[in-house]
Amino acid sequence: MSVGRMAGKVALVTGAAGGIGRACALLLAREGARVFAGDVDMEGLAGTAALARDGDAVETVRLDVTSEDDWAEVVGRISAAAGALHVLVNNAGLCISAQLLETTNDVWRRQMSVNLDGVFFGTRAAMPLLARAGGAAVVNVSSVAGLDGLPGLSAYCATKGGVRLFTKAVALECAQARNGVRVNSVHPGAIETPIWVKMQNDGRLDPGSNSAEALMDATRQAAAEATPLGFAGLPEDIAEGVLYLCSDAARFVTGAELVIDGGVHAG
Ligand SMILES: NC(=O)c1ccc[n+]([C@@H]2O[C@H](COP(=O)([O-])OP(=O)(O)OC[C@H]3O[C@@H](n4cnc5c(N)ncnc54)[C@H](O)[C@@H]3O)[C@@H](O)[C@H]2O)c1
Repeated sequence: MSVGRMAGKVALVTGAAGGIGRACALLLAREGARVFAGDVDMEGLAGTAALARDGDAVETVRLDVTSEDDWAEVVGRISAAAGALHVLVNNAGLCISAQLLETTNDVWRRQMSVNLDGVFFGTRAAMPLLARAGGAAVVNVSSVAGLDGLPGLSAYCATKGGVRLFTKAVALECAQARNGVRVNSVHPGAIETPIWVKMQNDGRLDPGSNSAEALMDATRQAAAEATPLGFAGLPEDIAEGVLYLCSDAARFVTGAELVIDGGVHAG
C-alpha cells in the first residue's frame, strides 16, 4: 500500500507527454496519487506511462486543452472512474519565438489558445469536482516570462502574465467560497525540454533531426550562461515544486507564485 505524500489523491496533469508535465505525472504517481496524464501527443503519453514504476498509477487520456468538449469528457471520465479529483496541474504550453512585427495573428492566437484558454477551460471544467474533494489544489505552470518581459516573446509573455493573475483571482474566489481549493502558479526558468527547439520552429518539433540536437545543445549552453546558478534546470526540478504545492504540506499556500529558475528573476 502506498504511503507517499499523495496517497489517496487523484490528479490530472496536462501536457504530460514529455518535459515538465511528464515529470509531474511520474512524481505525483510515485508519491501515491492515481494520475490521469493528458496530452494531444498519444505516442509521448505512452512513453510517460511506460516510465511509471511498477505499481504506480498513470492512466493516459487524450486531452486537447483548447477543446471545451475534451475537458467535459475527461472530467466526466475521472468522476466516473475515480469519484474525485484532488489535483489539477495545468501544464500544457506552447512557445513561439517571434519579434512583434513577425507575430502573426495565428502565432498570437495559437499561444493564447493553449496557454491561456487552456488554463481557463480546464480550471472552470474541473472546479465543481475539485470543490467536492474536501481539499484540492490547482497548479498553473506559468513562467519567468509571466513575471518579466522578454524580447522576442511578447505573445508568450502575455499568456504567461495572464496565467499569473488568473491564478490569483481564482485563488481568492475559492478562498471566499471556502471550497477547500488552493490555486497557485509555478514560474520555471530555463528547463531542458523540447520546448526550446519548438520555439524556434513555429512551435513544432522535428524529432531526431541533427538540427534539433544542435539547437538543443546550443540552447542548453546559452541557458546555463544566462542562469545565475550556472546550469539549466531539469523537468524534475519543477515537478518537486508542483508536488509541494499539491500536497497537504502547502495547506496555507494559495494565490502564490513559486519561482524555480536558478536565480534568474532575483536580479
Ligand atoms: N522548458 C522551459 O524552459 C519552460 C520555462 C518556463 C515555462 N515553461 C512552461 O512549462 C510548461 C511545459 O513545457 P515544457 O518545457 O515541458 O515543453 P514541452 O514542449 O516539452 O511540453 C509541452 C507539452 O504540452 C503539450 N501540448 C501542446 N499543446 C497542447 C494541447 N492543445 N493540449 C494538450 N497538450 C498540449 C505538448 O504535446 C507537450 O507534451 C509549458 O506551459 C511551458 O510554457 C517551460
